[in-house]
Amino acid sequence: MRKNINKENRLLQAKYSITAWFYDILDYPWERQYRKWRPRLVKDMRGLVLEAGVGTGRNLKYYSPSVNLTGIDLSVAMLKKAMKRSKDASCNVSLYHEDATVMESIPSNHFDWVFSTFLCCVMPDNLQPMAIKQFERILKPGGHFRLVEMIYSKNPKLKKRQEFAAPFIEKVYGARFDRNTVKHIQESSKLKICKTYFLKEDIYLVIEGICAK
Ligand SMILES: C[S@@+](CC[C@H](N)C(=O)[O-])C[C@H]1O[C@@H](n2cnc3c(N)ncnc32)[C@H](O)[C@@H]1O
Repeated sequence: MRKNINKENRLLQAKYSITAWFYDILDYPWERQYRKWRPRLVKDMRGLVLEAGVGTGRNLKYYSPSVNLTGIDLSVAMLKKAMKRSKDASCNVSLYHEDATVMESIPSNHFDWVFSTFLCCVMPDNLQPMAIKQFERILKPGGHFRLVEMIYSKNPKLKKRQEFAAPFIEKVYGARFDRNTVKHIQESSKLKICKTYFLKEDIYLVIEGICAK
């Protein structure tokens, strides 16, 4: 069956079918930092959790055994890697080829948590409202979300370094530092931001909140 993938995401999907082959190697220098954050980011999650843009499954082994995890990704090649990693998870893991802006097989009012790491900096601004609509739909009333992304620093020195790396990062990962995720969530009628904070400098942003009842 042909998956319902947003037309605008076909290019990104094609990019990740190549990037997937060397993603973990390429990402290794950053992953050495991320793996210190990942356990903390999922520590308080319980119940039904949807991880959007699960990638190669780097978060999977850190979820509590009491979590029932649904992981979705646009890229089948990335999901294949996640499938292997799911063997190290202590929670129940189900993985699906789904576009976060569509989520056609994902039930409504179902999840206690929606979580993503480095999806929002990859997702184009014009598609973000569609993904947010899906998050609103699939979260239970009172359900939580936690979204991690990279943004431009306000420190001119750091920003200059980011600008230097930006063309490479966009070419390989489709990621940008200038997405407007917070603004898009603020425009949502149901998702309410409770807290934002940085994991490192003013670059690695965590956006947390709840879905209104
Ligand atoms: C930068 S990687 C991050 C992977 C993983 N979350 C991590 O922390 O290592 C972004 C992932 O999001 C996926 N992705 C991008 N847009 C998506 C969409 N609309 N729906 C689902 N997955 C998407 C990509 O295929 C890729 O696996």
